[in-house]
Amino acid sequence: MELNVNSTFSLNNGIAMPVFGLGVFKASQEQAAAAVCCALKMGYRMADTARAYSNEQGVGEGIRQSGVPRDQIFVTTKLWKTDYQDAASGLKNSLRRLGLDYVDLLLLHWPFKGYGEAWMQLEELQRQGLCRSIGVSNFKIHHLKELAQGGATVTPQVNQTEIHPVNTEEELCNYCRQNGIQVEAYSPLGGEGRLLLDDPRLVGMREHYRRTPSQILLRWDIQRGIIAIPKSVHEERIRENMGLFDFDLSQGDLQTISDMNSNDRRNYDPDRIDERPSWMEPKFSD
Ligand SMILES: NC(=O)c1ccc[n+]([C@@H]2O[C@H](COP(=O)([O-])OP(=O)(O)OC[C@H]3O[C@@H](n4cnc5c(N)ncnc54)[C@H](OP(=O)(O)O)[C@@H]3O)[C@@H](O)[C@H]2O)c1
Repeated sequence: MELNVNSTFSLNNGIAMPVFGLGVFKASQEQAAAAVCCALKMGYRMADTARAYSNEQGVGEGIRQSGVPRDQIFVTTKLWKTDYQDAASGLKNSLRRLGLDYVDLLLLHWPFKGYGEAWMQLEELQRQGLCRSIGVSNFKIHHLKELAQGGATVTPQVNQTEIHPVNTEEELCNYCRQNGIQVEAYSPLGGEGRLLLDDPRLVGMREHYRRTPSQILLRWDIQRGIIAIPKSVHEERIRENMGLFDFDLSQGDLQTISDMNSNDRRNYDPDRIDERPSWMEPKFSD
């Protein structure tokens, strides 16, 4: 498959979304600004933030510092549950923090209680042009079905969810493909503290392809039509992770990586997200 850093996948509304971008979960404002600026200067064209990351201002700053024109950058943010009753205010506050007048993609961060009503508001915000595309995150098949049966008139353009070799979500990916929903993999390297980079099953491939484990893992995503957003705040890793466009994994090796699956989800079970204790909630200062 011919792919390069400017490659995009076409969403169900015709919008082109880069196949690869930078995540900034757990980055401070300063780290996010520096990482986004560095990545954009290197050739990345997509950044993924969220209300809950408390670094939207940093992301906006990084965009401006990079000098890359706004219309060449794809910016995603996500609404937290505190915004589900008034998504318009939630988005406007995110835009203010980002210093932007639209985002390319607005996601409902989790299937929190009230996500159906929140979705209807996203449809309206999209009509107003404040977000070019709308989608969901951490939605299982039954959440997607409930959305469709609950009167949604727009099929989510994207479902961003936890995907890496030990949590491949094949069934969900197939459902999304069949229903025109682009899948985007978060924690594509396994997530902080649980990285899969030293897995012995990747060692042989590392030597064969002369690529690093992170490049192999990210290639496994995009070669299967899945968007990947690895996070790093280190320049050398941001550069390394971008090096996934000049080799092809064989069908056999794609399958070997997929066979590592053990349904080992590292993040919360979306069905239990409303049960999280309140002390785990993000604290917002702005
Ligand atoms: N929608 C959701 O609920 C949700 C949940 C989680 C994440 N996300 C999004 O997805 C993005 C990526 O997921 P993630 O941050 O959980 O996990 P990840 O990208 O799989 O892993 C990030 C970790 O890997 C390290 N790293 C990155 N590149 C590396 C390399 N080449 N070699 C060695 N270590 C490397 C990073 O450290 P350094 O930064 O120190 O380099 C960081 O600790 C997030 O940043 C966020 O934007 C969304």
